[in-house]
Amino acid sequence: MSRLAVLTSGGDSPGMNAAVRAVVQVGAAIGYEVYGVRRGFQGLIDGQVAPLTRADVAGIARRGGTVLGTARCLAFHEKGVREAAAEVLRAKEITGLIVIGGNGSLTGGHLFSEELDHTGQRFRVIGLPASIDNDLAYTTMAIGTDTAQNTIVEAIDRIADTASAHERTFVVEVMGRDCGYLALTAAVASEADGVLMRETGLSDEEVVDRLVHIVRSAYSPATGKHSVLIVKSEGVSLSSSELKRRVDAALDGHGLRVETRVSVLGHVVRGGAPSAFDRLLAGRLAHAAVRAIQRGRTDEMAGWHVLHRPGGELPDAVFDLDPFITFWSLDRVLQETLRIKDGTAEVTRWRVKLLREVEPILAS
Ligand code: F6P
Repeated sequence: MSRLAVLTSGGDSPGMNAAVRAVVQVGAAIGYEVYGVRRGFQGLIDGQVAPLTRADVAGIARRGGTVLGTARCLAFHEKGVREAAAEVLRAKEITGLIVIGGNGSLTGGHLFSEELDHTGQRFRVIGLPASIDNDLAYTTMAIGTDTAQNTIVEAIDRIADTASAHERTFVVEVMGRDCGYLALTAAVASEADGVLMRETGLSDEEVVDRLVHIVRSAYSPATGKHSVLIVKSEGVSLSSSELKRRVDAALDGHGLRVETRVSVLGHVVRGGAPSAFDRLLAGRLAHAAVRAIQRGRTDEMAGWHVLHRPGGELPDAVFDLDPFITFWSLDRVLQETLRIKDGTAEVTRWRVKLLREVEPILAS
């Protein structure tokens, strides 16, 4: 019987458990013995690899976090460390590995796919995009983003109640690392008055000016608002407390007495039961990943697309399995993900353009 292993790595995201469960279920159904690796690549190095049965994963799809545990493991970038990890899998005659995680985890998976299994073949490594940040290329959504988005919107709705009651301005800071996707989408969904995200490239002074402008326009008689909500992505270099200090001073200078408050949602956004969407996304990506390993594919990520032809290209789509899932080389995914971060990717440029178009609508 063939054996494959599954691990979750990097920042946890809601839906990781649903993906693990699906790997075990699909694997068992088509004749694989599935092993679970504890604590990501760190656990692989430490030999924390044990069989995972259907009974082990029963009922986990509805749970947030990851039952396998996770870690950020920089040591995995060292060749010698990866060789030791490969030896752990060789000893158990495991030939395939499914890596569930974000940028750093997929980098680890890409590097690991160079190692050879006990038959002398390259390990078959397939990555599944899982990150609340939605900062990965070649997938419309990553596992966990939808749940995080819903959590943020729910939190902002609550903050909106108290903001309105006290006629205050709130800056709500949300996770997303360098990516403003969560901030942008949550702002639109929660009827916020403005969004601050790193990708716009504004200087600290410009960020302050932007916020002051939004607040002044909101409280102007023409707009007639009594409270203001701004969603700030954590990637914006100016800290929220410093932003508040400078905005307060500037508003004071304009003779506008506004009470401002800052609310940093932090890790609250990463936890909680996964949404139905994230459970389904995780399940279908995991299904395709196990099938891909069965077909001998390696060093690729399974991406989910709302369009059949993302970017007009169609690389080896597995249409017989799922018309919305395509496989992309990890190298390509990682390179494009870097461009999402540095702002040169088409999708990042589009998000910034969208923000420019949306901003006046939000503020009106
Ligand atoms: O990548 C997911 C994420 O939650 C980011 O949004 C955030 O910047 C980071 O991880 C926080 O990492 P940690 O949990 O290690 O503090």
